[in-house]
Amino acid sequence: MSAPVIAVSRLEKTYLTRAGSRIRALADVTLDIGDGEFVTIVGPSGCGKTTLLRILGGLLAASSGSVELLGRRISGPSRKVGMVFQDPVLLPWRTVLDNVMLPVVVLRLDRATYRRRARELLALVGLTGFEDKYPHELSGGMRQRVALARALVHDPALLLMDEPFGALDAMTREAMNLELQRIWRESGKTVAFITHSIPEAAFLGDRVIVMSPRPGRIVDVVSVELGRPRDLDMLGSDAFGVYTRKIRQMLGPKGWLE
Ligand SMILES: Nc1ncnc2c1ncn2[C@@H]1O[C@H](COP(=O)(O)OP(=O)(O)OP(=O)(O)O)[C@@H](O)[C@H]1O
Ligand SMILES: [Mg+2]
Repeated sequence: MSAPVIAVSRLEKTYLTRAGSRIRALADVTLDIGDGEFVTIVGPSGCGKTTLLRILGGLLAASSGSVELLGRRISGPSRKVGMVFQDPVLLPWRTVLDNVMLPVVVLRLDRATYRRRARELLALVGLTGFEDKYPHELSGGMRQRVALARALVHDPALLLMDEPFGALDAMTREAMNLELQRIWRESGKTVAFITHSIPEAAFLGDRVIVMSPRPGRIVDVVSVELGRPRDLDMLGSDAFGVYTRKIRQMLGPKGWLE
């Protein structure tokens, strides 16, 4: 196997609050993510998932342990990473195309070259014809697709997604899952994807990382041995049910069983 894209070893994160107390968010997290792999992360609310993703994205420093991206210690945001958050955070005064172009402007890349790429990505996420619209003219699902195109525009090796489809209705969400799977297969990116939905985690992931309540630890890693591309019919299959039951048993009926 080639060298991992992400190598996390014995990662710890403790927040210091303004009031002076310490909150231990992550405990002894060790995880490798391989090149081109799609990893999903599930765990109870507040267990440290976003904390982990922010550390991987170089937006937050670890307290201890080592975190490497493509063999190098992460010391800050990197060109090699694209991020999609739960809320698409588009700039309301910029058009769809100009929102997608934001990383290009920030990273001072060649605008003409990347404008072509931005248009191609908008086509890839099904938004041809919407380049000159403004965010308020789009539906929630369309806005999330703009955010996805924006995260991919500078051609990162790693895509980090924090509950990107949590606010969407069930049908749009399923359509987005199919679309994301297609984009991932076509682009060959490595993806780390956080979700509260067990079916979504099993449907998208090559592996599902299951975390404990805070301080978040990895309690299990479930390899999902289902073929690709996966389709929505698979959601009702026995094989799929085995995986979701297994993950649900670990998380318990209320999100976590003591
Ligand atoms: N800047 C901060 N300062 C202090 N504590 C924080 C900070 N950010 C997060 N925390 C705490 O760290 C813990 C983990 O937070 P995090 O946002 O990583 O959880 P999460 O698993 O993403 O939760 P959710 O599923 O609700 O999004 C929580 O208890 C949270 O209150
Ligand atoms: Mg979170």
